Amino acid sequence: MAATIIDGKAIAASRREQIAARVGELKEAMGVTPGLAVVIVGENPASQVYVRSKEKACAEVGILSEKHALPEDVSQQELLALVDELNTRNEIHGILVQLPLPEHIDEDAVIEAITPAKDVDGFHPISVGKMMIGQETFLPCTPHGCMVLLEETGIELKGKEAVVVGRSNIVGKPIAMLLLAQHATVTICHSRTRDLAEVVGRADVLVVGVGRPEMIKGDWIKPGAVVIDVGINRTDAGLVGDVEFEAAKERASAITPVPGGVGPMTIAMLMENTLLSAMRATNMD
Ligand code: GUN
Repeated sequence: MAATIIDGKAIAASRREQIAARVGELKEAMGVTPGLAVVIVGENPASQVYVRSKEKACAEVGILSEKHALPEDVSQQELLALVDELNTRNEIHGILVQLPLPEHIDEDAVIEAITPAKDVDGFHPISVGKMMIGQETFLPCTPHGCMVLLEETGIELKGKEAVVVGRSNIVGKPIAMLLLAQHATVTICHSRTRDLAEVVGRADVLVVGVGRPEMIKGDWIKPGAVVIDVGINRTDAGLVGDVEFEAAKERASAITPVPGGVGPMTIAMLMENTLLSAMRATNMD
């Protein structure tokens, strides 16, 4: 039987509606409008697409967005000065510096300069550490979006075999922690994993974020598994994920499409974090 296609686009739209309502309540009760500052350096085309989507989503839910586009050759000092200024401005509740940054800028230094209270990306070491030990914090948007999609499928994670392919700081490592917090048995695979097909074949829940078009073959997947594909790869055949979708959907019980799966959820979770930050700032949480 073919898999249920997990409609990230529809789930994200429904979340944005709920967020818009809560943004309205915050405005009404406290006279506060959540504000998100988005910083983009240089002309990376993919980054520009993402930043535009974030601005559009902000407008839709009633969050004020403020874009700071800096030239490719901006100095690290200038970028840090901007982050400092945004840290101090009360009407800014979230700061997002779009990654990747140009080579001459130390990405870690920039992430660490963002005050954890406005770290809506959840990339600051304090946010990462809190997530790891189960304290309340801003969850990173893509892994959080994946968890919401899993929740929507209704799958019980407790005791299940979850396999994560990819160990990036943005996707693989944090999603592994969130799955663990839900009592899954978690295995993290990466480029040096021996017999990837065998490990993938054990997964009741498979999350893939490696950035390699259709690297995970459909016939590796355990029949009935839930598959979350975080990959977005531009190929001659259009956008494809990291999982061989057509074959995988014949074995999985549920699977995210690319596009229209995880992508829209990332942005919805960013809106949610920005709202949450504004609520915390006004003691409305
Ligand atoms: N680049 C790719 N994904 C992300 C993300 O979630 N946040 C930021 N800031 N940059 C990214």
